[in-house]
Amino acid sequence: MKTKWTAIILLFCAFLALAGAGVYAELRKGNYQAATLGQVRQAAPDKMSADSQFGGSFYPLYPPELAPGEGKAEVEGYCNVCHSTRYITMQPPLPAAAWDAEVAKMKKTFGATIPDDATSKILGYLQTHYTPESSKE
Ligand code: HEC
Repeated sequence: MKTKWTAIILLFCAFLALAGAGVYAELRKGNYQAATLGQVRQAAPDKMSADSQFGGSFYPLYPPELAPGEGKAEVEGYCNVCHSTRYITMQPPLPAAAWDAEVAKMKKTFGATIPDDATSKILGYLQTHYTPESSKE
């Protein structure tokens, strides 16, 4: 009777040892399937070939065509820093005083650093080409 129990316990221990070795071997083998991670299936990674072609280009911005004239370069230089010059062309024609206030706001409120001589050129340009009077022409 005693030997029978000893044999059963020995067999059980041998089974545990074998099962443990099996699990260990499985881990070492590295059977890492994406589908076993909480059942979240992942897409297979793209297979790259050595002769693949990759390319990129600039995001298309379509800058507006500003009216030609004295001060255009300053406007395109200084008013393009934070936003497109489309902000100018998408306004309704503004009276001269409104452009004064607008450019002052860009400098005082939004911190545009525009030298005084460029500021007067910019104002001259905007007040020549983008006012109700000039848009009637
Ligand atoms: C320092 C950054 C900066 C510079 C430089 C700048 N702006 Fe702006 N501008 C802003 C910001 C910020 C707004 C508000 C954007 C918004 O509401 O989406 C704005 C808005 C505007 C608008 C829309 C009307 C308004 O008041 O919101 C106009 C027109 C405009 N700017 C004209 C100009 C002109 C002309 C110049 C060049 C003299 C200029 N900006 C330079 C920051 C700047």
